[in-house]
Amino acid sequence: MQHEAQARSYLDRMTTIEKIGQLNLLAAGEGLATGAGAETPLARRLDDGMIGAVFGIKSLASAKAMQERAVRGSRLGIPLFFAEDVIHGHRTVFPLPVALACSWDMDLIEETAHFAAREAASEGLNQVFAPMIDVSRDPRWGRVAESPGEDPFLAGRIAAATVRGFQGTDPSEQDRVAACLKHFVAYGATQSGRDYDNASMALEDLLTVHLRPFADGVTAGAASVMAAFNAVNKVPMHANGDLIEGWLRSGQGFDGLMVSDYTGVMELTAHGIGNRDAAVIRALLAGVDMDMVGEDYLHALPQLAENGIDAADSGLSLGADEVLDLIDRACLRVLTFKARVGLLDDPFARLGGSVATPPRDEGLALAQKAAAQSAVLLHNNGVLPLSGEANPALVGPFVADRANMLGTWAVSGDAREVRTLQEAMEDITGRALPTAFGANIVDEPWLVDRLNVHGQTVSFDDRDPDDMIAEALDAARDADVVIAAVGEAKEHAGESSSRLVPDLPFPQRELLRALSRTGKPLIVLVFAGRPLALGPEVNDADAVIYCWHGGLRGPDGVADLVFGRSNPSGRLATTLPAHPAQTPLHHSEEATGRPDPGRFQKFRTGWLDLPDGFRGYPFGFGLGYSEIEYGTPVVNSAQISGDGQLQVHVEVMNTGSREQLETVQLYLSDPVAWITRPARWLADFRQVRIAPGATERVAFTITRGMLSYWVAPSLANATLEWDPGEFQIHIGPNSRDTKTVSLQWLE
Ligand code: BGC
Repeated sequence: MQHEAQARSYLDRMTTIEKIGQLNLLAAGEGLATGAGAETPLARRLDDGMIGAVFGIKSLASAKAMQERAVRGSRLGIPLFFAEDVIHGHRTVFPLPVALACSWDMDLIEETAHFAAREAASEGLNQVFAPMIDVSRDPRWGRVAESPGEDPFLAGRIAAATVRGFQGTDPSEQDRVAACLKHFVAYGATQSGRDYDNASMALEDLLTVHLRPFADGVTAGAASVMAAFNAVNKVPMHANGDLIEGWLRSGQGFDGLMVSDYTGVMELTAHGIGNRDAAVIRALLAGVDMDMVGEDYLHALPQLAENGIDAADSGLSLGADEVLDLIDRACLRVLTFKARVGLLDDPFARLGGSVATPPRDEGLALAQKAAAQSAVLLHNNGVLPLSGEANPALVGPFVADRANMLGTWAVSGDAREVRTLQEAMEDITGRALPTAFGANIVDEPWLVDRLNVHGQTVSFDDRDPDDMIAEALDAARDADVVIAAVGEAKEHAGESSSRLVPDLPFPQRELLRALSRTGKPLIVLVFAGRPLALGPEVNDADAVIYCWHGGLRGPDGVADLVFGRSNPSGRLATTLPAHPAQTPLHHSEEATGRPDPGRFQKFRTGWLDLPDGFRGYPFGFGLGYSEIEYGTPVVNSAQISGDGQLQVHVEVMNTGSREQLETVQLYLSDPVAWITRPARWLADFRQVRIAPGATERVAFTITRGMLSYWVAPSLANATLEWDPGEFQIHIGPNSRDTKTVSLQWLE
């Protein structure tokens, strides 16, 4: 309220044009690198008070120059706010968000977000376009990389942890920034995994799967939200008032700022909702307060504010007063946001260089730890961990790679600061290791061009592939173990990088096939931006670690695991499909009348042409270097009624010889209900550190709310229902290998 009052004191004195200027969110472009006197198109707009905020500033000096110009240029001295895409770290690049999700460690996730906030704030930023909390169940979609994975409960926990990390208790504090939950909503449910495509689904699924993380992010206090490019159930999100003004604001109590995603307002025209005027009015009506990059608010609103709109073909008829009210509403939210991040008190608070940049070493150590915790050990026949005396050969296109290790959406990262896998491993072994490139990442030159769209990260070796393989075999000749570093380029994933076939590219599979024929133990490290169907070439290796793209210290974190300096604890936040065409898929599918028996059976759900024995890996899966055994879950009462709470516990034993950070996962199922429910769903998890030989008792509380489901004849009339009777609790190390206890929960 106090922020809104502060904002209102400006609003009441502003002209309509000044208000419209506040709704304009622009990319900095070249910024004002030469100081506040610079004469660029951006500078002239600042003089005219036509910009409310800028993203993509390149330096503190440029931001300061822009702010001086904006404050001077606006009659009332209203400052800009500065935003940036800080998706998995800022200067210090951490593992991809989907990788961090695999740590299941909320303290770690909060810590990485806080570190990124400290770096961002020290460069004058007020807002970050993160966290991205689109539940993603289609490995073809490139933006899985930025996502929290496939599960809404885990995504909700991550949303809250990241918001806490960015904002703390107050985003105006010197080491904090405002979070921006994105992309609202169901962007991850895009048809066929094609980026920017639309999504249609039952409202129950929308509520259960895609809206849930937003509810959790709002509860955690997120100061802003970004609309998604897609339509949901036929209504483009930039025009979706039922979801933005309705569900998000009225339903969840979100009182922050809503920004468009890039030219999302303009794109309403291509979506088919009408011309520019109609697009602008629909977006404002829906509750999109700021227009990013497109400048349609800026150009269309002055006229609309004078004349209103009467567009029968778009179904719009608003008088000038109504348009003015919409402008006021949006502008008040922009100014309230500025008040909330402290800018109306002091526009230069973080522009004078007084906010300390956090120590680089601290960030790099955190990045290395995060990379080790994000990687998932999928398979190990005992070859791992290697001893320091091992004599490995390093083979594959990612052995000496820097740029791809950063991963997609690392806009402020510097690939030159990445340490390669070779450097990391040679540091540990203390000697030079034999290496070979082995294979191109992909063998289609046109694809190489597409992958190099943001600068060259993929080199193409035009030697005969057999010669490259021969060189790799040569490197392996005197080694006692072969480590193959394979996977995807950074631009294989990310925005506008949907893949038809999410598998390991052909030349790399050929390389693995040849390496496996040497008979030497083969360790495969997969560096990727999405969950890949690995195929037999990877699965038949002696050990496999799914490393994702781990950021500046990704290779070091992985090397620590390989040589046993860290113990693997990562658990998949997305199912790894057995076959690339088995998409979309996830662990919480609804029960069918003809359940999948696990191998092909006629007249049961499944695939005719999927060979039996093709291996995928279930959600939540991951191995350690120790042996963990689970007892059977014990409930404090097998029958309960009403609103009570149930306690369940399980004994988890470390029977191996190393400490293990174990993620104990709790799933629920409702075998008898009025509707078909998911075969199981994740309801809680706990991480415990278990010493060798020790047993930990891990307890959970089950509430009735955890058993309920949405029934939604419409969004406004959605209710949570539950069916008394039998429920099951499944506890274990992943979504498949659980032990079950049943109970009765009565009315
Ligand atoms: C992306 C957003 C991003 C924005 C600004 C868009 O293309 O979808 O996630 O925040 O660009 O860079």
